[in-house]
Amino acid sequence: MKTSLLLSIPLSVLIFTNAFAHGDVTPQAMDTSSLPDVGEEWLEENPWRDPSTEVWMQAITVGASGYNQNCARCHGLEVVSGGIAPDLRYLSADDDGDSWYIERFRVGATQNGITKMPGFEQILDQRAAWAIRTYIETRPADDAFDAHNERLVAIRDELTAMALSISEGADASSLVDGASSFKAELSEINATAKTASNAPLAESAASRAAAALDGSSSSFASAAELLTIGLSAAK
Ligand code: HEC
Repeated sequence: MKTSLLLSIPLSVLIFTNAFAHGDVTPQAMDTSSLPDVGEEWLEENPWRDPSTEVWMQAITVGASGYNQNCARCHGLEVVSGGIAPDLRYLSADDDGDSWYIERFRVGATQNGITKMPGFEQILDQRAAWAIRTYIETRPADDAFDAHNERLVAIRDELTAMALSISEGADASSLVDGASSFKAELSEINATAKTASNAPLAESAASRAAAALDGSSSSFASAAELLTIGLSAAK
């Protein structure tokens, strides 16, 4: 009984609950060495907002990890607030939102002498700040995929079937056309997803699955799994 119960809980929730239970509030250092240098002086605007650049995705990847370790316990997993602290998805993706964001990031928030949020300036560098910012602003809005949910389930099921036929000996190259049409469709669906911040493009399970689908034999199962994780998180 206990085992099956645990299996039904997503891993991210288990890790999160564990960190929370231990009262671990020590800020965690981040490895930002894969990101371009942005200098010492604090910028006023997110330098990595443009989704057509290569650094965009890298910033999101680094930012997701930094967010989960330093911000999620108050601001919520996937930046969906549980009510303890403001929902950061609504912070507008422009210079107004950025200056407010950077202010809070650096000095935190104190009210009547009580620290409501610690400042991160001493622990995390500027690249960490903008990486987390890029992750936050690209979260899809709550209802972003409502119109496409059924289709995403169908694509996931077809990808699962393709992965199965490969494991039974089918040649991945015979499925290459299918892979590239699903890749295109997933990117299109992702492009329709709105962000609450008005950032130009959301980053989601759909875009992650599209990126994973490179036609290699293992990519069908990986893409199906990414969609499954995204679809169950959406419920
Ligand atoms: C200990 C809990 C806690 C942690 C950890 C925390 N925050 Fe906060 N944060 C808060 C609270 C509470 C507020 C609201 C403060 C207020 O009342 O002005 C806040 C406010 C903010 C705001 C302003 C939002 C708004 O709408 O006014 C931003 C931006 C922000 N936090 C970013 C972050 C980031 C980025 C991280 C991680 C690097 C982080 N916070 C970590 C508790 C936290």
